[in-house]
Amino acid sequence: MARRKKVYEGKAKILYEGPEPGTLVQYFKDDATAFNAEKRATIEGKGVLNNRLSEFFMSGLNAIGVPTHFIRRLNMREQLIRAVEIIPLEVVVRNVAAGSISKRLGIEEGTALPRPIVEFYFKNDELGDPLVSEEHIIAFGWATQQDLDDMVSLALRVNDFLSGLMLGVGIKLVDFKIEIGRIWDGDYMRLIVADEISPDSCRLWDIETGKKLDKDVFRRDLGNLADAYTEVARRLGVMPGPGTGVTKPTLIN
Ligand code: TMP
Repeated sequence: MARRKKVYEGKAKILYEGPEPGTLVQYFKDDATAFNAEKRATIEGKGVLNNRLSEFFMSGLNAIGVPTHFIRRLNMREQLIRAVEIIPLEVVVRNVAAGSISKRLGIEEGTALPRPIVEFYFKNDELGDPLVSEEHIIAFGWATQQDLDDMVSLALRVNDFLSGLMLGVGIKLVDFKIEIGRIWDGDYMRLIVADEISPDSCRLWDIETGKKLDKDVFRRDLGNLADAYTEVARRLGVMPGPGTGVTKPTLIN
């Protein structure tokens, strides 16, 4: 059997060469890491859930005109995506204080922020992904001012879309992280949402009970991670596995 060429392996996903130029196959592993991979586990079914959930969010974004790398899901663990040049920044949007902003600024977790706050972290495992300012980003050439304006605008559109979707199923979108990539159409460059959007990269709290339904369940040892992600998938009508008949988001163009 012909083996596909592995292009990149990260902590939770593997990228393989795609069937056509400009495409890649993104494979979702069951591996979970936290605190820059100091804590590791394999959580059966996580990859299947994140493949489905990322498909659901990204195809919804595509449908409302927020461009993403997602083309189509191929199977339980793989999706076809557009190859992009990843900008080496993690773009975090926060609606409610939690995690590192609470620690850094002494804001109690759960405090609503006066407006959504967009932050940038330099993607560098050796340095532990440090928070950086727009000045750093421009001075070191990771992105231009125009890129930054486009990234903030993309991130806020994703925030509005995801917040609304989650609110509809009784979940508060506390914060999330996205990655953004460049694609070229001839000489014309544009930025699109890449990587994944899943409970690995969001904080999701049940509105009624405050129960955490995201990767903090693993980071903070709060219970079974696959159960939490399954709950998110169930509420959104994105159940994995045969026989459920749900393969497409319920959003219509
Ligand atoms: P933080 O509060 O730890 O800075 O995380 C903010 C958001 O970013 C949270 O939803 C989790 C997500 N995130 C990632 O997706 N990857 C990471 O490596 C980190 C640190 C956070």
